[in-house]
Amino acid sequence: MKKTVLVSGGAGFIGSHVTVELAQAGYDVVIADNMSNCDNTNYCGVCQILGKKLPFIKMDFCDENAVNNLFADFKIDAVIHFAAFKAVGESVNEPLKYYRNNLLSFINVLEAARKQGGCNVLFSSSATVYGEPEELPVTEKSPRQPATSPYGDTKQMCEDFLHDCVRAYPGVKGIALRYFNPIGAHPSALIGELPRGVPNNLVPFITQTAIGRRECLSIFGDDYPTEDGTCKRDYIDIVDLAKAHVSAVTRMVEGRMKEDYEIFNVGTGRPVSVLELVNAFEKVNNLKLNYKIAPRRPGDVVAIWADPTLANEELGWKAERSVEETLAAAWAWEKHLAGK
Ligand code: UFG
Repeated sequence: MKKTVLVSGGAGFIGSHVTVELAQAGYDVVIADNMSNCDNTNYCGVCQILGKKLPFIKMDFCDENAVNNLFADFKIDAVIHFAAFKAVGESVNEPLKYYRNNLLSFINVLEAARKQGGCNVLFSSSATVYGEPEELPVTEKSPRQPATSPYGDTKQMCEDFLHDCVRAYPGVKGIALRYFNPIGAHPSALIGELPRGVPNNLVPFITQTAIGRRECLSIFGDDYPTEDGTCKRDYIDIVDLAKAHVSAVTRMVEGRMKEDYEIFNVGTGRPVSVLELVNAFEKVNNLKLNYKIAPRRPGDVVAIWADPTLANEELGWKAERSVEETLAAAWAWEKHLAGK
């Protein structure tokens, strides 16, 4: 029997890629999104890639009745919860917006899971929970650090909500995936990242600069204690990241979890500095990027990358694409958007 996976925030960057991989792995997928941070570009792209229309429900996960109705209308075997705000800086200025949306939406999902007598719940968490790590690479046992933004706080709180609910409510099982830096786009160039306004994240800023929508990329700080002075991150290809979700959902629905609540790092284990990433983008796409060194961005950690061993061994998943392939895909997507 086919299993049904509900993807909240399924029209967004990560949600759309996960939807494609789930559907291609044989799952029935229900997409739900309030479209507050995206248009229907990715939903249309998903349908085009799959060659069929997937069920789409426009709804807000902060609306408890709507969430309950959704669970009543579909037999949900697993839910992947993406629907959340994610701009770190904005969360500092508008904490209540973040607490209300990110916490309430997840509480409603957990309540619906409890009411139906259990469900497999996958929460999209973040490496932000590790803060500035004392030891690198970080494993799932590395301590969480106090969050430096309300956004980070909501990720930690939602992990705890899930863990507590798994302990309290029979049949509720949970996995938190801690993403490092998801970048890139689907190889079809039909779905990808669609930042609203000026991008906060590095790769969309790079591609928008290359296409001419932004004048110049600012590299935030070149005086960090790293080889080239710029910060290091673990950039993970979006399709690789999406496949980790398929592995995690399958582990849950097939009853192969070792604990009822599990955490996995989803990263490559490969640190890349900002300058290295910029150079790789220029090289693989054969272009020159206009960039300058700018002051440090407040709140940035110097370096963080994953030890992905646990996910490799337990999920049977491994990041496969090179950073060059991923940056070529990101550029193809930007050109697709520009109609070039
Ligand atoms: N950077 C620049 N110029 C830019 C944008 C970013 O130099 O215009 C640098 C940043 O200073 C940082 C690196 O590029 O050193 C990566 O920055 P991103 O904003 O792309 O990503 P972050 O590592 O800051 O944050 C990401 C997600 C968060 C998540 C965090 C977890 O955006 O949601 O990873 O570690 F919480």
